[in-house]
Amino acid sequence: MERLPLFLDVKGKRCVVVGGGEVALRKATLLARAGAKLHVVAPELGDEMAALCARESALVCPTEFQSCCLAAATLVIAATDSLAVNSAVSVAAQALSIPVNVVDQPELCTFIVPAIVDRSPILIAISSGGASPILARSIKRLIETLLPARIDRLAALLRELREVVKTKIRSFDERTRFWEKVLEGDIPELVYAGKEAEAKARILADADKPSSARGEVYLVGAGPGDPELLTLKALRLMHKADVVLYDRLVSEAILLKLRPDADKIFVGKQKSDHAVPQETINEMLVRLAQEGKKVLRLKGGDPFIFGRGGEEIETLASAGIAFQVVPGITAASGCATYAGIPLTHRDYSQSVRFLTGHIREGGVPLDWAMLAGEQQTLAFYMGLSGLDIICEELLAHGMDPSMPVAVIEQGTTRAQNVSVASLATIRDQIIIDEIKPPTLIIVGRVVSLREKLDWFGS
Ligand SMILES: C[S@@+](CC[C@H](N)C(=O)[O-])C[C@H]1O[C@@H](n2cnc3c(N)ncnc32)[C@H](O)[C@@H]1O
Repeated sequence: MERLPLFLDVKGKRCVVVGGGEVALRKATLLARAGAKLHVVAPELGDEMAALCARESALVCPTEFQSCCLAAATLVIAATDSLAVNSAVSVAAQALSIPVNVVDQPELCTFIVPAIVDRSPILIAISSGGASPILARSIKRLIETLLPARIDRLAALLRELREVVKTKIRSFDERTRFWEKVLEGDIPELVYAGKEAEAKARILADADKPSSARGEVYLVGAGPGDPELLTLKALRLMHKADVVLYDRLVSEAILLKLRPDADKIFVGKQKSDHAVPQETINEMLVRLAQEGKKVLRLKGGDPFIFGRGGEEIETLASAGIAFQVVPGITAASGCATYAGIPLTHRDYSQSVRFLTGHIREGGVPLDWAMLAGEQQTLAFYMGLSGLDIICEELLAHGMDPSMPVAVIEQGTTRAQNVSVASLATIRDQIIIDEIKPPTLIIVGRVVSLREKLDWFGS
């Protein structure tokens, strides 16, 4: 994070604007909206600036800037077209430890003025750190379209009722759940429809008889790595959960999308190092839900594909715990797509098989003769350490040694690394390409399409 975002209370505080033109006017207007006591320094004022100063009873210094103009200032904004004046303002302000912004000159600023979405009391500030104010403005437009028009009324109503609900529901956790339930139900719609009195009455009535907390588990697929591949439902439940149990393959970028105050528990399993045994995970899910918590079980890919999700919800079902399951994009689908390999194709492959390449004692229990057939695609999960056996078995059962094979490491992420060769040569190629787990192995004629269809510049 390059800068610390803060919302500053400038009500009644002296804020200096240096400049009398249009840009200075925009900044002065913003400060006036926030209740600042305006002090404008400029030899000449444009008409609109003069009108604003009159309306706001601003102090106007019709002179060139001098550092004494900054006495007792809370902040200063320089918006002149003179580089020398702007620099002088910046130097003088920094010498007095007064926060300074110089329009369009980030190197002279100690703070920047963000693009804002103002639905007060909801205020959203967006900054590109000076990289591109245009991008910040386009994000602002995006947020404007996503926010319900009357969200300000909803926020005002919640503020009005906050203290009274506090006296009715004393426990912090219970209150948090109460407000979450309010926001997830139809109260916001009542406010958006202009029925605020009805919404208020409902909230007060519900606060008198809060239902006892019921725990629930959300078994959610987080997809293969790219956070944009999360489903909308996954995101919604990620924002709701009180506690999260997550696996090794859930990426950092995805964890950043969790509710910030949720408890995060790593229960990842690695092949040689079982961090938390499956039985313990099952017991934790039951115990946390019985404590009344909303528990998110977040798994890489899809929870029902090589994810032991079935076992976890069997335990929940036996214990009578409520649960929901959200599918995720499985590694085979995500990795193939981001490597430019269609898993099926009219000309090359009429079926696709998801297989485990996990080697058990006594060999991989797979029907190699069937897998060695043409016109199909094989997708091996957990197969890197078993690649020797996979290749040997397929060759021994008659697969063409020139059959294309791809090994995709950390598919869909910026660290994606793809190694492509033939069944006969892939074992040497992955050494050259320094491939490491996690990997997804694709065997089939469709792999040759990557040459034309590779689109993802990792
Ligand atoms: C225990 S399985 C879980 C699969 C997961 N439930 C799914 O649907 O993708 C873990 C294996 O999935 C594969 N995998 C998961 N994410 C991957 C990624 N981003 N890139 C390559 N392989 C991945 C690897 O083969 C890894 O060893």
